[in-house]
This record gives sequence, C-alpha cells and structure tokens, in this order.
Amino acid sequence: MPSIFLSPPTQKINSQIADRVGVELYVLRLDLMHPQVNGNKWFKLKYNLLSAKEKNLSTILTFGGAYSNHIFATVAAGDLFGFRTIGVIRGEETLPLNPTLGFAVEKGMHLVYCDRATYRQRHTTQLQEDLKQRFGEVLIIPEGGSNLNGVRGCTEIMQNLDAFDTICLTCGTATTLAGIALSLHSKQRIIGFPVLKGGEFLAAEIESLINNYLTSGLPAPVDNPAPWQLVYDYHFGGYAKFNQELIMFCQKFTQEHNIPLDYVYTGKMFYGVMNLLQQGFFQPGRLLLIHTGGLQGNLGIQEKLLKKRFN
Ligand SMILES: Cc1ncc(COP(=O)(O)O)c(C=O)c1O
Repeated sequence: MPSIFLSPPTQKINSQIADRVGVELYVLRLDLMHPQVNGNKWFKLKYNLLSAKEKNLSTILTFGGAYSNHIFATVAAGDLFGFRTIGVIRGEETLPLNPTLGFAVEKGMHLVYCDRATYRQRHTTQLQEDLKQRFGEVLIIPEGGSNLNGVRGCTEIMQNLDAFDTICLTCGTATTLAGIALSLHSKQRIIGFPVLKGGEFLAAEIESLINNYLTSGLPAPVDNPAPWQLVYDYHFGGYAKFNQELIMFCQKFTQEHNIPLDYVYTGKMFYGVMNLLQQGFFQPGRLLLIHTGGLQGNLGIQEKLLKKRFN
C-alpha cells in the first residue's frame, strides 16, 4: 500500500508579535504528508478516489490551469493508487511544458487543452457528457476537487485537534473551509483568507456547500458548523498575483521558522495572520494556521520571475 503520512505534525512558531498579544501560534504541516499528494489535496481526493473504486472506474478526469496544484496532486495520486488520469487544461499548449505539466506528462496524465470559452462550461452536463463520449466511462472530479466528496475528506483534517481556539486557512473555492467548519465545535472559530480578488461571493458558496453537505446524508462530525469569517484584504491583487513584499515575507518566514510557503495560497494567509497579529485582531488563545501545501506552484512562479528578469 503506498504511504501517505496521515498524522502530520503541528509545529509551534516562536513569534514575539504573537507573544505580545497572548497568542500561541502553531502550524499544521499538511505540506509534509507526502512529497506530491499533500496539503488539502489528499483530503479532497480521498473520497473521490474511493468512489471511483466503488464504481469500478479506472480513469479519473479532472480540470485545472497550467500551474494547478490539483492537477499535480491528481496525477501523483493516480500514479500511487493505480488510476489512469486525464487532465483538461485551460488554455493552449505552451512548449516547453512548465514544471507542473511536465510532471503530469511524465507520470502518464493525458492532457487535453481547452479554449477558455469551452473551459468555462466545465460544470455543465453537456461538456461532461461530451468528455465521456470521447474518453469512455471516467470519474469526473471538478476543478480543485471541489465537490461533496472533497468536503467530506476535509472534515478529517482537524481530527484529534480540538485544542485550538482559532483556525486560519487560505481559500480558493473554500471547499476546505467548509469541511473544517463541519468538523469543529461551536466554540472554535475559523478565519478564511480568499486568494481571489472580489472573493466576497465565497461566503454564499460556503453556506451552500455546508447546507448541501448537511442534507446529502454523508457523515458529518457535527450538526452545527463552527462559526467562520472571511478576511478579504490579503489577495495581493488576485489569484496568482504577487509582489516583492510577499516574496520577501515568504523567504524571511522560511528562513526564520524552517517552513516553506507558496506564493499563491499559504504565503498570503501567513502574511495576513502576521499583519493582523500586529493590529491586535486576535484574542489571546491558541491559533492554528493550516499549511495546505502547494509548494510545487513556486517552481512556476520562479520560472515567471526569471522570464521577467531576462526580457
Ligand atoms: C495549496 C492550496 N491551498 C489552498 C487551496 C484552497 O483550497 P479550497 O479550494 O478548498 O479553498 C488550494 C486549492 O485547492 C491549494 O492548492
């Protein structure tokens, strides 16, 4: 049986900024679960892969951008657990392949490039039926692993971790946040940091993910989800946008605490938390930051930075 490290460590962060306001700071190192299938990815994929097994389907088809952490993790999980994988990639093929897609092809993923207008149809039955006509019976996992099976897996992230008052995490689709809210008791609170500009729409998405989950009959650790809120000020211009300040922050944090951060997701949340600590935003207590992985994405960003520098 291939191994995924299911009890990732919780690491204490020594920070004078946190000490000053009576906050004990910890990081849940989901990034250490497996070299490729790590972070929130394992949790989002777990029940999707089990559902493919139950349905006797040997091929997984999913969607993502050219630097997608989800594509990277799906191909690696397919390789570990014996599934063929097909990746529908937004946009045109660019050669040479970037590190994410290079890895995907090396591990046997079949890539299908898709123009942006067609890609926008990815949630429609029509496009999904067309893909099934073309590739036969496949299990389709939505972009980012964002479905109820994904939420179900994320209800397991905080197992045996009820000693924290506040839990902070970054949000793309907020599937991870919904799963965590469904697993915490009502005295704990969750703060999500959307990486998209204009992420206000996520609040309704989270409500609907939680309500759909609670009426789906899938097992929910709690009946009433823990309170959550979103902080919209740390997207740095939007998805995959970054500036020198963010890069410097991530590099300094890594040096000081020996925790690598990515610039698309976790780096923005860690920056936001340290900034809010300085503003006295948090009550004294135990604060847990969830490191949701995504480090492979830094290779793509380093490539972009190098191109910028030499053009
Ligand atoms: C590294 C990383 N962290 C966080 C997220 C956001 O997760 P979610 O879409 O569940 O909000 C993603 C995207 O899936 C991701 O790749």
